[in-house]
Amino acid sequence: MNVNLQHWRLDVDAQGIATATLDKAGESANSLSAEVMREFSSLLDQLDVYPTKGLIIRSGKEAGFIAGADISEFSQLDTAEKGRALVERGWKLFNRLEAVKYPTLALVRGHCLGGGLELALACRYLLAVDESGTKMGLPEVMLGIFPGWGGMLRLPKRVGPAAALDMMLTGKTLDAKRAKKMGLADDCVPPRVMEMAARQLLVSGQSRRPLPFMQKLMNGPLKSVVANGARKQVAKKARPQHYPAPYAIIDLWQKHDGNALAAPEVVDRIISSPTARNLVRVFGLQERLKGFGKDSDFKARRVHVIGAGVMGGDIAAWCALRGMTVTLQDQTLERMSPALKRAHALFTKKLRDPLKARAAFDRLIPDPQGDGVPHADVIIEAIFENVEAKHALFRALEPRMKPGAVLATNTSSLKLEDLRTVLHRPERLVGIHFFNPVSMMPLVEVVEAEGADPAAVQAACAFVKQIDKLPLPVKSAPGFLVNAVLAPYMLAAMRAVDEGVSPETVDEAMLAFGMPMGPIELIDTVGLDIAMAAGKQLASGADAPKCLLQRVEKNLLGKKSGQGFYAWSEGKPQKGSAGSVPAGLAERLVKPLIDRTERLVAEGIIGDAELADAGVIFGTGFAPFTGGPLNYRKSV
Ligand code: NAI
Repeated sequence: MNVNLQHWRLDVDAQGIATATLDKAGESANSLSAEVMREFSSLLDQLDVYPTKGLIIRSGKEAGFIAGADISEFSQLDTAEKGRALVERGWKLFNRLEAVKYPTLALVRGHCLGGGLELALACRYLLAVDESGTKMGLPEVMLGIFPGWGGMLRLPKRVGPAAALDMMLTGKTLDAKRAKKMGLADDCVPPRVMEMAARQLLVSGQSRRPLPFMQKLMNGPLKSVVANGARKQVAKKARPQHYPAPYAIIDLWQKHDGNALAAPEVVDRIISSPTARNLVRVFGLQERLKGFGKDSDFKARRVHVIGAGVMGGDIAAWCALRGMTVTLQDQTLERMSPALKRAHALFTKKLRDPLKARAAFDRLIPDPQGDGVPHADVIIEAIFENVEAKHALFRALEPRMKPGAVLATNTSSLKLEDLRTVLHRPERLVGIHFFNPVSMMPLVEVVEAEGADPAAVQAACAFVKQIDKLPLPVKSAPGFLVNAVLAPYMLAAMRAVDEGVSPETVDEAMLAFGMPMGPIELIDTVGLDIAMAAGKQLASGADAPKCLLQRVEKNLLGKKSGQGFYAWSEGKPQKGSAGSVPAGLAERLVKPLIDRTERLVAEGIIGDAELADAGVIFGTGFAPFTGGPLNYRKSV
């Protein structure tokens, strides 16, 4: 066939089955740019002219099927017309794809997200390849927008509205097996048979599994019940003034059957919202963090963690979950047993497959003698926060380490420059600072001390990326970035309590601002003793707040002791009514955090304002819709 395409390849075999392979020029992953979609349209033109038995759509990239729309095009949507045109482009093209006379099949291997899944949903069949990287989802909501290319129309019809809304409102993804179980994929096959299975399914004439009766009702007469339920769920997590997109998704599905073009005012409002602009920016920042360590060819296979406490235990488990062989050392086996129990729970929850969980557990090896040290590519120290103890450990460790291995400390408050004095090669010590709880927090600070070996810092970043965390390079300074900016914010919150504002009101002020958790609840969660110690180190000599001192004296340490600012029961704080929030309270509480962030940028502790915004968002949960503290200050 005579189509001249830059991003697609069209092949037709002897039986008349066509295969369209997307291999976007100049990129490592496929995304649906205007150009890619124009070419797809002309490819369909060709197939209108030359009859085909069927069309298989697949990817020519190792990375996956299609990662979504081309996000760089979003920043060019400066008028309402351009926004609507973008929605229209995909909506019409995928309607056309759905309507073609010949059977179509999306062969999905690796990521299939956003517009990529919308394309696959418009095919008659979706065949998922069972591989660890295969995941399907509509994560548009995380960018503050909606799946306007047919996702809101077709996903509810395919998997039922409850599951579809859950996916569209949270951005969560399904692996190949779950996709099949839920009816999103027609089948799920191992990679070695995928081509054959695709051809068989394509020409099978097999009809799609019908939605169960109840799901059909929920997609029809019971729509408003489902929509109201979903609105209530969303309201628990996101306020409409901060995150309008999830509410728009529910409305568009309920009132317009997922056709956003039927509600152009919603399209205009969402696409031009500051939230969408900021979330797209945050996505870009996240990509930037992922880029750290890319240039290093360091690859870790074995990790040795010393200290099986709150942090070390969970760091070791996380590394094992991510496929590494991990030896975990502590003073005795008994000390390790709580960490191993937590690891077991983590593997069970995350892997949802007893065999895989077992394999992960086998990769996590208790090692009281430190036999893993000479084999480790990365050694992470997470013992008590005590200089002498860490010195003694480093002295014993260094002569036993592999030459190129990374030596890292997880210290929160000790200076790397003081810790490394006992090393023969002090320049090799780096900070790899995880946050608690390790499995939930996406950010890891990679700390560079004065005169550190740049290769060691690069290798540490590469390792952090390898375990799917976001590395943030910071210079060695008290509290690095995240704790340094949290300290003055928590102090301001407690000063407000000293002035007579109730903890509930302080928390409500910041929840209304858009923080995921109020600062007083946060202090209760990390522990009042820890907050006290951090305050001493980071509050530049300021007196501790009275409300904190009084409670610590009475040993009311927060969540862990059952009582802090709040009484805790079953892991939840028992809060009274917040009452009305005084005007300007949130701005007053957040100001010291923003001031400190600015100062850390000015002092060069963090590379630039963008990285600071990224670090504060991913390290503290700072309201993502604002685009970060410095972006927020610029915008007000
Ligand atoms: P932890 O007290 O829960 O655990 C420390 C563990 O190290 C204990 O199990 C102890 O038996 C073991 N240990 C002590 N000396 C040892 C030695 N010489 N050899 C082998 N094991 C030894 O402490 P946590 O909270 O896990 O903190 C560990 C490190 O992580 C500290 O440097 C801390 O500053 C840092 N950190 C803590 C965070 C937190 O939220 N708890 C957050 C980020 C960093």
